[in-house]
Amino acid sequence: MMIGLRALHREPGEDLKAIRYHAEYSTMFTYALGGSAELRLLEPHQAEEFYALVDANRARLRAFLPWVDGTRGPEDVRAFIGKALEQYAGRLGFHAGIWTGGRAAGCIGMHPIDWNNRGVSLGYWIGEEHQGKGLVTAACRAVIRECFETYGLHRVEIRCSSMNTRSCAIPGRLGFHREGTMRHAQKLASGWTDIEVFSLLNRAES
Ligand SMILES: CC(C)(COP(=O)(O)OP(=O)(O)OC[C@H]1O[C@@H](n2cnc3c(N)ncnc32)[C@H](O)[C@@H]1OP(=O)(O)O)[C@@H](O)C(=O)NCCC(=O)NCCS
Repeated sequence: MMIGLRALHREPGEDLKAIRYHAEYSTMFTYALGGSAELRLLEPHQAEEFYALVDANRARLRAFLPWVDGTRGPEDVRAFIGKALEQYAGRLGFHAGIWTGGRAAGCIGMHPIDWNNRGVSLGYWIGEEHQGKGLVTAACRAVIRECFETYGLHRVEIRCSSMNTRSCAIPGRLGFHREGTMRHAQKLASGWTDIEVFSLLNRAES
């Protein structure tokens, strides 16, 4: 499967300059975040480990992530990873695990790139024991760099529930502009929530 995906992906070396490639059947890319932390492209063989992480954090993740209740076993994670790899192969962005000390800690991903407007929106989550260490902020910084320098995008967006103080702090920390509030734009487990929209523009181009 990895070989097929490599064949599908257009000039991977060119698209992901900052990333080093490994042997077939191994990690397709990693991106060092500092210390023992790194991003690794999601791969099907990681489904069990990520499912265990989601399951252990189910109660806090489901408060803000609507997909959690529908994730009932490793096969659901494997299906998501399959779609994520198709997205990557189609040059529509990627989803990566956040790893620390060789263990899966969380995830960061790009919603499919809007190539007409060269824009993208990011999503992320992290396990409770890895929270509060700056890992997600570092992961966002790395992905934003890929968005601007490798994919050549013009705008990166982050949307968070107004109730999600920790998540809203991340674009704030990264110099995003707060654009406004979308009223009742998402239905969470607790009911309708307002969504805060943050954006960062690629200042290297007009
Ligand atoms: C939202 C979420 C990803 C934020 O995680 P987080 O750990 O707060 O974010 P970071 O990894 O960037 O860590 C920031 C924290 O590390 C601290 N930190 C330590 N070293 C740091 C560094 N070098 N750089 C930045 N922050 C650092 C910050 O002070 C901050 O701590 P504080 O909130 O206690 O002040 C997490 O709470 C989560 O997974 N929530 C559930 C899922 C979710 O809501 N996803 C987002 C949906 S929009």
